[in-house]
Amino acid sequence: MEKLVVANLKMNLLSLVEREQYLKAFKKEIKGKKMSKAGMVLCPPFVHLEAFQKARLGETALGAQDMFWERSGSFTGEISPAMLKNFGCEFVVVGHSERRRYFSESDEEVKMKIAAAFKIGLKPILCVGETRVERNSGQAARVIGRQVKSALIDLSRAKAENLTIAYEPVWAIGADVTPTAHEIMEVKVLVRKILVEIFGKKYANMVKIIYGGNVTPQTTKETCLEPGLDGALVGRASLAPHEFIKIVEIINNN
Ligand code: PGA
Repeated sequence: MEKLVVANLKMNLLSLVEREQYLKAFKKEIKGKKMSKAGMVLCPPFVHLEAFQKARLGETALGAQDMFWERSGSFTGEISPAMLKNFGCEFVVVGHSERRRYFSESDEEVKMKIAAAFKIGLKPILCVGETRVERNSGQAARVIGRQVKSALIDLSRAKAENLTIAYEPVWAIGADVTPTAHEIMEVKVLVRKILVEIFGKKYANMVKIIYGGNVTPQTTKETCLEPGLDGALVGRASLAPHEFIKIVEIINNN
């Protein structure tokens, strides 16, 4: 698949009824549609993973929103990489800004999660991005550079083809603003440059770079298509299958 569109459902779908409604609506939206260029990844809360897998939602792949780095043991409340793998996940989101911000996840922890994901054969989607204060004070490139380098520095180049990086400016997530296509393009160039330093040019080009933060059918063109990105990570708009599929279609048809 050339492109990737990821639905991050976050802490939503609170009941069986809500889940079933979502799955039904999603099936209706994808019926008869062929997305040959854009792969879809659905990341529901952990408790819904099995149901999403069993629902057989066409060509969609399953992902988790987070995980722990240890395989098993006395880690109350945590979810193991092996569990995700064994319950049908192909992808896992790592280092989302909400994890970094509300759960104090550090660069070091993000690095361990990325390594653990590869070890078990999950494809990580590494989230990076600056806050509004960091952007306004000219720190965006430094912050993003640090996040990317610290997470990937020890990986072998063979991992590149199964890696996705999501540029998610913290100030656009859950908000109604987005960076300009030019600002996103600048970050894409920066991330690609760091990837070349880490993996070498050939392998660096295998890494998908996607955008997340207020992606809607209205903003997809400017945030994903114009900067020439490899897809999108969608939060709020993924809660409405109709909206999400519209975004996938826009990306698939361009
Ligand atoms: P949003 O969230 O689309 O609701 O802004 C994006 C994200 O957090 O991945």
